[in-house]
Amino acid sequence: GIKKHILVIPGDGIGPEVTTWGKAVLEKIGQDFGHEFTFDEALMGHAGIEATGNPLPDETLAKAKASDAILFGAIGHIKYDNDPSAKVRPEQGLLKIRKELGLYANLRPIMLFDELLDASSLKPEILKGTDILFFRELTGDVYFGEKKRSEDRNTASDLMIYSRYEVERIAIKAYEAARVRGKRLCSVDKANVLEASRLWREVVQEIAKQYPDVETEHMFIDNAAMQLVKNPKKFDVVLTANLFGDILTDEASQIAGSMGMLASASVGDGTGFFEPIHGSAHDIAGQDKANPLASILSVALMLEISFGLKEEAKKITDAIDKALKDGYRTGDIADANTDKAKILGTTAMGQKVLEYL
Ligand code: IPM
Ligand code: MN
Repeated sequence: GIKKHILVIPGDGIGPEVTTWGKAVLEKIGQDFGHEFTFDEALMGHAGIEATGNPLPDETLAKAKASDAILFGAIGHIKYDNDPSAKVRPEQGLLKIRKELGLYANLRPIMLFDELLDASSLKPEILKGTDILFFRELTGDVYFGEKKRSEDRNTASDLMIYSRYEVERIAIKAYEAARVRGKRLCSVDKANVLEASRLWREVVQEIAKQYPDVETEHMFIDNAAMQLVKNPKKFDVVLTANLFGDILTDEASQIAGSMGMLASASVGDGTGFFEPIHGSAHDIAGQDKANPLASILSVALMLEISFGLKEEAKKITDAIDKALKDGYRTGDIADANTDKAKILGTTAMGQKVLEYL
């Protein structure tokens, strides 16, 4: 077996509840397959601000750099959502750790469990067979460009900025993935309007020449947002910038039935970072209602991507598949046909997955 040290950062809202089950699944896989996983925990986001005044405490960053992989929960607090003047914000912790760890590629697979076809607001026949892997650039764009506010406070700007090497490195990752998947790559930009997008398209066109076996398509973001719900099956690998990817993957989560089902992997120069794509969901925090499956699926991604443990990862997705096939649901993925007795809370769903494992 292998020996790995995992840093768990539960974060805010439902983060602690869902990561509990991601961690429990990791422990069980370790026991069953003879791997030694050791754990540490650290604060980030609102939890970090409360304890230290810093959304990314120094200790958390040091622990993150020293770990082999990070399991993260969620970030954010309602307190800040309606207070645009707050200078210190929970989200800064997440953005800073992405930058500090060089996590420039965010992989967001849209995995579809057949049993959940009816949980989506889209028609099952449109969804069936969809399998998309998003590559969202994660350390550039308006997220990290210079932010300005005029002295009279009446004008504001965020710089959308990309450099060639930033587009190249994520394009290469996306093409490598496309090569071993459906061999189709769709690069999404707004090159008809934005200069940063024209650089993006130029670079992707160049990289494309090194991958003649992969069919490349370029699409404008507005069109892509429409195509995604019109005919999601047409997509295989989608490559896009930070802000477009943020928006497009929330939209795509509805293909999988719920945000509560989608996991993501952020990778780059060093330690991998694994988290659900959902947020802190303060409206249901602490009520044992959150869906732990995205956190558990994030662990599956960690095993596969950071540790190369494919069999272990498959064991997890199979266990989830079985639980869903037997009719078990959390509230977010239940529908009118769900057996009421099989609608589970966070704890019961987590335990169910452990049982099926
Ligand atoms: C995400 C989140 C973050 C983002 C927020 C919390 C900063 O929405 O991971 O998608 O915008 O990247
Ligand atoms: Mn988002």
